This record gives sequence, structure tokens and C-alpha cells, in this order.
Amino acid sequence: MPSTQFERFNIQRMTASHPAMRKLKRDGHVASIHGNKHWPSADMLMDFLQQHPLPKRKTVIDAGCGWGLGGIYCAKTFKSKVLAVDADDAVFPYLQSHATLNEVKIKPHHGDFKSVKGKLLDDVHTVIGADICFWDEMVKPLYKLIDRSLAAGAKRIAIADPGRSPFFKLAEKLVKKHDAELLDWTSTKYPELDGFVLYLKK
Ligand SMILES: C[S@@+](CC[C@H](N)C(=O)[O-])C[C@H]1O[C@@H](n2cnc3c(N)ncnc32)[C@H](O)[C@@H]1O
Repeated sequence: MPSTQFERFNIQRMTASHPAMRKLKRDGHVASIHGNKHWPSADMLMDFLQQHPLPKRKTVIDAGCGWGLGGIYCAKTFKSKVLAVDADDAVFPYLQSHATLNEVKIKPHHGDFKSVKGKLLDDVHTVIGADICFWDEMVKPLYKLIDRSLAAGAKRIAIADPGRSPFFKLAEKLVKKHDAELLDWTSTKYPELDGFVLYLKK
């Protein structure tokens, strides 16, 4: 039987069939906007960040965090202070289980991309995201969140995606308005991690 818990990029993860994850689902924590597992783009983002490390102890916003592995990776690897944002409250128990398993603390914020403003952007250094731009209506709020973060002083943006068409619309706007780069990314260690990273470094 395949293992329901394993490690990659020094992060322990439980699959959706792990007994603890199944119990959360049975207890009524049922994600409704695709935050029902770890998505491969989160691993692609870790692969990318391994080669483009963040400075230590900075504030990172994990937008559309789902089960939270991207932010957990930053907390563990770079000692980042992570605000994990998701519009779906059901993802947070899964995130919390993974934060505990990996011995890091993550601050949750239940709200959509539009809700991340004002004090929540204090000290923001980096905005990360993995597979968060899959509907056309996500392009504008995500663009605006990135725009607000940059205005608040953010120095890095790194969004990984398998190559969905709304993501390319977001990328086009960010390349044009903020000089972001759209990078074709394939992991050399795990070639199945293959897609794109929208990257901006100031
Ligand atoms: C495909 S999942 C990716 C989750 C995680 N980043 C990963 O790679 O495993 C997309 C996530 O974005 C969240 N999401 C969707 N629309 C959102 C919005 N408008 N504001 C904040 N989060 C949103 C969903 O609830 C879900 O957890």
C-alpha cells in the first residue's frame, strides 16, 4: 500500500487518504474551492525557492494557502513569519495539522484576496502562491493584492502554476506593469514538477 505520509523538500506531508486527514473530512471540514489536497504547484514553488532563497525571518503571505505547504516550507526553511490566507475556512484544520507535524507556527487569515489589506500588509516582504489563478474572476483581485503588497513594500512575488489560462492573463499584467518575469520551470530532481513561476524580485 502506498504511504500516506512522506517527506519532500524537508517537509512532511500527509495525503488526503492519511487517517488524520480522512478524520478531518469526516468531521465536516470539506473544502469547496479546490483546497482539498496539496497541489503539485506547491512542490514546484518549493523547488523554485530552493534555488531562489528568501532572506531569513521576513514576513511572507501565502495567498490561497490551502493545506499550507508553501508557507510551511518558508517557515521551516527561511524562518519566515507566515500569514496563510484562504477564502475557504475548511482548509485551516488541514494546514494546522501540517504546521504541527513540521513544528512551525503559521498565522491563519480566513478571507479572500480582497480582504488582505491595511495592517495585514504590515512588513510584508514576499507574497507566494501555488495554483491560485484558475478562474478568470481571480485575475483582477490577485493583481490588486500583488499591487497593494508592492505598494506596502513587498520585495518578492513568487506564484507557481501548471499553466492555466487565467494565470497567463495575470502574468501578462504583472510583466507589463511591474517588470515581473514569467519563468518556465521544471525541477531537475522531480521532473514531474513542471510548469511556470511568475517571479518578481526588487
Ligand atoms: C488549487 S488550491 C491550491 C492550494 C495550495 N496553494 C496548494 O498549492 O496546495 C486553491 C486555493 O485557493 C483558495 N482560493 C480560491 N479563491 C480564493 C480567493 N478569492 N481568495 C483566497 N483564497 C482563494 C482555495 O480555497 C484553495 O485553497
